[in-house]
Amino acid sequence: MAIREILTYPEPLLKKLSKPVDEVGDEIKTLISDMLETMYEAPGVGLAAPQVGVLKRVIVLDIEYKEGERQPIVLVNPEIIESSGETTYEEGCLSIPEYNAEVVRASEVTVNGLDGEGHPLSIKADGLLAIALQHEIDHLDGILFVDRLGSMKRDIFRRKYKKLMKERAEAS
Ligand code: NI
Repeated sequence: MAIREILTYPEPLLKKLSKPVDEVGDEIKTLISDMLETMYEAPGVGLAAPQVGVLKRVIVLDIEYKEGERQPIVLVNPEIIESSGETTYEEGCLSIPEYNAEVVRASEVTVNGLDGEGHPLSIKADGLLAIALQHEIDHLDGILFVDRLGSMKRDIFRRKYKKLMKERAEAS
């Protein structure tokens, strides 16, 4: 297991479409265990493969993680097959450090995919898990949570972030 580098905005790779996984073999299993390690180390509640520079449809999540009780969820080729309702939640992202904003998403989703062993898996989720699933699956389509903000909020984000990056560059 290895901790991988998390790419951050405005890295162009984060805007790319990830490819479906053909087979959950050794390469994908290593990717999954590295992604879990990287997510727990960060720490974060979810991570998508493109965030570590791999354009494959793999996500990991653990929204319950506290004090070492790991309950990871791994999904390969996840697909939202049903969604309903509406909810607003203040989201953040490991690829967009130091920025949070409220995003509107479906409140309930059903996601089909494969688990970390390549077996079919279906998850019906609400609450934070439903939000996290949509956020991570968005990453596989090159969509960041800031892309889901209204145009005014997105402009504010761009300006704020430019300033933040400038400050960070000056500090280092
Ligand atoms: Ni994210």
